[in-house]
Amino acid sequence: MVVPGAAVVLIGRLVTPSVVLRPGNDLRGCLPPGARRRARARALPPGTVGRDGACRTDGSRPAGAHCQTSAVTDWDAWHDPYDDPHSPLSQRLQEVRRQIGAAFDRAPAGPVRLLSLCAGRGLDVLPVIASHPRGCDVTGRLVELDPRNAAAARAQAPPGIEVIEGDAGTTDACAGAVPADLLLLCGIFGNTADDDVRRTAHAVPQLCAPGAAIVWTRSTHAPDLTPRIRGWFAEAGAAEASFVAEQPEGWSVGAGTFRGDPQPLRAGMRLFTFTTRPPQDRIGFGQ
Ligand SMILES: C[S@@+](CC[C@H](N)C(=O)[O-])C[C@H]1O[C@@H](n2cnc3c(N)ncnc32)[C@H](O)[C@@H]1O
Repeated sequence: MVVPGAAVVLIGRLVTPSVVLRPGNDLRGCLPPGARRRARARALPPGTVGRDGACRTDGSRPAGAHCQTSAVTDWDAWHDPYDDPHSPLSQRLQEVRRQIGAAFDRAPAGPVRLLSLCAGRGLDVLPVIASHPRGCDVTGRLVELDPRNAAAARAQAPPGIEVIEGDAGTTDACAGAVPADLLLLCGIFGNTADDDVRRTAHAVPQLCAPGAAIVWTRSTHAPDLTPRIRGWFAEAGAAEASFVAEQPEGWSVGAGTFRGDPQPLRAGMRLFTFTTRPPQDRIGFGQ
């Protein structure tokens, strides 16, 4: 489903490979110079490690393997392809950061409340907060289950951003952090049942303030769920602002603006549970 006015972009695999902050987001935010230098170092992945997109599950890096090849995903190692600016995961990250920057650009003056579920190391939003002129206005919460990733995110999070180590799949993880002005649902929808994706998209009115930005990701590998996901967000009152998909089958990044009627948060509601999906449904990077 394509919402009139939404930007829909399909890009080929030969995307210019760079994971850099876009012009205007070049670390001119509100950080002191020392912190700015550190943020710049974080924002520009250094090398070519993991060029094949493989990731270690046992300390090794099997040729041709991706992070999702084992039944139990190592969510710390899942981030390894981010070190390679040529990897599809890095290209997806670049688009996610672009959408986060655009959300900050659009945000009205005043506080910007962030909620990121399954935040990983926070590599999508924390460098943008560090660089964007509105970064000083951002407060909020990252929720991440893996203690290693939560610790990595916490180490980079500025004051005002709390990192909670816990299950993001229930509305209880959101209590006290909603309504959000920016909701990140990145790297979730490829790891859950379709019904969970629908339920999470339909929970947007519980999670978002009027005008909030929502950024989500999902692989477009067959069976491509993204048309239905876009429809579910539309049903929830999120007008699509952008949908960018790598072609052929690959990552995609959707962005929307909440235009519906907010609802109170329902305590104890299960939104999603991570599952082990069949191999053909795994893409090894973004999901
Ligand atoms: C595919 S990664 C995405 C990380 C990050 N959002 C990104 O896009 O860079 C999924 C993350 O979800 C975390 N995770 C898995 N189940 C979770 C749960 N129930 N609650 C919170 N985090 C969870 C994993 O540890 C992992 O860091």
